[in-house]
Amino acid sequence: MYIWKITLLSFTLLFFNEVCSLKYDNFEDFVKMVLGNVSAAESYVIPKDNYDSLKTDSSTIKYFGSYDFIIVGAGAAGAVLANRLTEIKKWTVLLLEAGGPDNDFTKILGLEPYTLLSPMSWGYNTTKQEHSCLGIENQQCFLPLGNVIGGGTTINAAVYARGHPEDYNRWDKVYHNKGWSYEEVLPYFKKSEKAILEPRDSSFHGDGGPFTISHVGKIPGLDEFLIDLFDMANISHITDYNGKVQNGISKVQVARQGNERVSTASAFLKPVESRSNLNISMGSFVTKIAIDEAKDRATGVYFVKNGQRYFAAAKKEVIMSAGSINSAQILMLSGIGPKEHLCSLDIPVVKDLPVGKYLQDHTMFIGLGIRTNEVFYNNTMLELLKMYEKNEGPLTATFQLQMVAFTNFGRNDTVRPEIEFAIGCPAPTGPQTQFIMRLTDEYTEAFQSDSLRDIWLYMALLHPKSRGSVKLKSSNPIDKPLIDPNYLAEDEDIETLYRGLKLILDLNNTDILKSKSAYVLDFDFPNCESHEKLSKDWWVCGIRHLTIPVYHPVSTTIMGPNPKYSVVDPKLLVHGMKNLRVVDGGVLPELNSGHTFAPIMMVGEKASDIIKQRYGAL
Ligand SMILES: Cc1cc2nc3c(=O)[nH]c(=O)nc-3n(C[C@H](O)[C@H](O)[C@H](O)COP(=O)(O)OP(=O)(O)OC[C@H]3O[C@@H](n4cnc5c(N)ncnc54)[C@H](O)[C@@H]3O)c2cc1C
Ligand SMILES: *[C@@H]1O[C@H](CO)[C@@H](O)[C@H](O)[C@H]1NC(C)=O
Ligand SMILES: *[C@@H]1O[C@H](CO)[C@@H](O)[C@H](O)[C@H]1NC(C)=O
Ligand SMILES: *[C@@H]1O[C@H](CO)[C@@H](O)[C@H](O)[C@H]1NC(C)=O
Ligand SMILES: *[C@@H]1O[C@H](CO)[C@@H](O)[C@H](O)[C@H]1NC(C)=O
Ligand SMILES: *[C@@H]1O[C@H](CO)[C@@H](O)[C@H](O)[C@H]1NC(C)=O
Ligand SMILES: *[C@@H]1O[C@H](CO)[C@@H](O)[C@H](O)[C@H]1NC(C)=O
Ligand SMILES: *[C@@H]1O[C@H](CO)[C@@H](O)[C@H](O)[C@H]1NC(C)=O
Repeated sequence: MYIWKITLLSFTLLFFNEVCSLKYDNFEDFVKMVLGNVSAAESYVIPKDNYDSLKTDSSTIKYFGSYDFIIVGAGAAGAVLANRLTEIKKWTVLLLEAGGPDNDFTKILGLEPYTLLSPMSWGYNTTKQEHSCLGIENQQCFLPLGNVIGGGTTINAAVYARGHPEDYNRWDKVYHNKGWSYEEVLPYFKKSEKAILEPRDSSFHGDGGPFTISHVGKIPGLDEFLIDLFDMANISHITDYNGKVQNGISKVQVARQGNERVSTASAFLKPVESRSNLNISMGSFVTKIAIDEAKDRATGVYFVKNGQRYFAAAKKEVIMSAGSINSAQILMLSGIGPKEHLCSLDIPVVKDLPVGKYLQDHTMFIGLGIRTNEVFYNNTMLELLKMYEKNEGPLTATFQLQMVAFTNFGRNDTVRPEIEFAIGCPAPTGPQTQFIMRLTDEYTEAFQSDSLRDIWLYMALLHPKSRGSVKLKSSNPIDKPLIDPNYLAEDEDIETLYRGLKLILDLNNTDILKSKSAYVLDFDFPNCESHEKLSKDWWVCGIRHLTIPVYHPVSTTIMGPNPKYSVVDPKLLVHGMKNLRVVDGGVLPELNSGHTFAPIMMVGEKASDIIKQRYGAL
């Protein structure tokens, strides 16, 4: 924070008479806009509950009209769905989004962490964790999910990583979801995509979709160094991890067009917002689904907008796309969830289903860095923004991520990876990232990086055995849900992370590192002193302290054929309900070997076809 503020100060003194922006009449306005958002984030206080969004002046409920489809949530899946369903001119669609609009600041990928401290984020804390996040304040991990048009895709790190074919074959074979094998879902990944990647494995990518995917910019010298380094660990250079081969190290692919972020709002909603059969209502917080129990039908939804209560009616379907945490919350508030849990809160049970019971999330170790003797870049904010305008430099990528490496520990590529390294600089304690890490004071002090010289390897566990839960705190939508990801509860998860860590630790003192006078960092992890420094137990202790979420919660409304173990069927209909679907990250049976917005957009694409088929429109 400190360096950052100094940079900003020098920067404010310098910007006069600069004129070079594309959008802004002058650079000065652009800079003002950026500074305004940065300082707003610095003083932002995350609301403890949803009171401000839900307070109303009267208890009367106004009628908001009747639509063929009501979609709740305009995120990765909901925005895709709204676009595809309104291709059918005779269908009317109401898209309800709790958040507000995106803006020019959210387009700058490199400044993304600031949007996580703004009303664009739900800003959740997890419950107190026993096995992870021990070095985070109150042992509660920070889980900032998107509360804005475009959902997560408007505020996320934009890394496009679908995972491995085996991920989807498992949805089909292991979880018995007919229609979701890799071969069957690949066309839907391609349908959304407009790939401008060079090089790429063309048969795996789409050129004609609205959602642009491109490579991140370059930090000179870094890629070459990383490729040589990972080669020493037998992780070879590949060119397209979303193509033929995933295991290996390659350039990051991101949702970006020119220097601007691409979100599902910019790609799927903006171009069709004038369709007369599409109503997009922002600032509309859905609290409950109206259900006709005798007919097993959802009849509409209740929501609050600008202090007024509304009811909107659904003629065909209600589709929950509020994300895996909030869809689970709204379903439970509406009586769909585990019977004992709902009864304990005096919520009448409509359907007894395991909502919230299989929560899974990626978690990552943030304590792995390599200190070099090289300064990769050392620029003022002013310089960084000028570079950004030319689509160059660190601000073109979130966390300055440059490369990703996936490994299955030396098996052939038919086996999906276990560990991902997302590699970039600066480090997690650098000025742009530190404040979202929420480290305790003692960890902040002990875990000091050099934000100009360090290369950071965020190491994620791709297939955790641990699962957690989402529960209601009360029957009132004002209360935020209780989110317990239960990271690293299973010993196997720790073993896998340590195996990944070893790959890099074993490279310390190799010639390639020595050539840059570089070495793998070792911190004095607080509360780990009882273990011999650098021993396995010591690292495990460090891992349990310095883990944070990757913000990929899934499986809360898990898809499967059996209502005992799943919430929606393979057509995404809530078991026992005729016209209530869930179409978002909650339906993923388990985590993919990558990041989550790509598969969730795919789910949105496939769901649109399932719905079109049901009503004879395809
Ligand atoms: C900080 C961050 C970084 C990430 N980085 C990456 C990355 O680099 N790559 C990647 O692939 N994934 C990343 N993700 C994850 C990815 O963005 C999510 O998995 C994805 O957006 C989830 O899609 P969804 O459709 O399930 O829900 P969301 O995209 O979260 O959309 C849900 C929408 O519903 C709205 N909503 C919620 N409750 C209500 C309500 N009661 N009433 C009305 N509307 C409501 C929300 O405001 C939101 O707009 C990241 C996420 C975060 C938060
Ligand atoms: C953030 O940027 C947007 C434009 O992208 C602007 O409208 C808004 O006023 C800025 N916020 C602050 C607090 O300056
Ligand atoms: C989350 O935890 C942080 C740090 O402990 C705390 O300051 C904040 O108030 C909590 N947020 C909510 C919404 O409870
Ligand atoms: C890399 O592969 C070679 C050849 O199979 C093997 O001898 C070596 O031990 C491997 N190195 C690592 C770090 O796994
Ligand atoms: C929905 O959109 C149509 C066309 O834009 C508009 O006429 C109508 O008033 C909107 N309905 C509501 C409830 O906002
Ligand atoms: C970074 O740049 C500043 C300003 O030019 C300079 O004072 C400082 O020494 C540089 N830092 C490094 C590590 O090169
Ligand atoms: C790849 O590994 C799998 C699992 O170990 C094995 O069954 C398969 O034969 C191997 N394939 C090739 C082409 O080596
Ligand atoms: C890496 O090697 C250096 C010496 O070159 C040593 O100081 C450091 O502790 C080692 N790092 C780790 C993680 O073992």
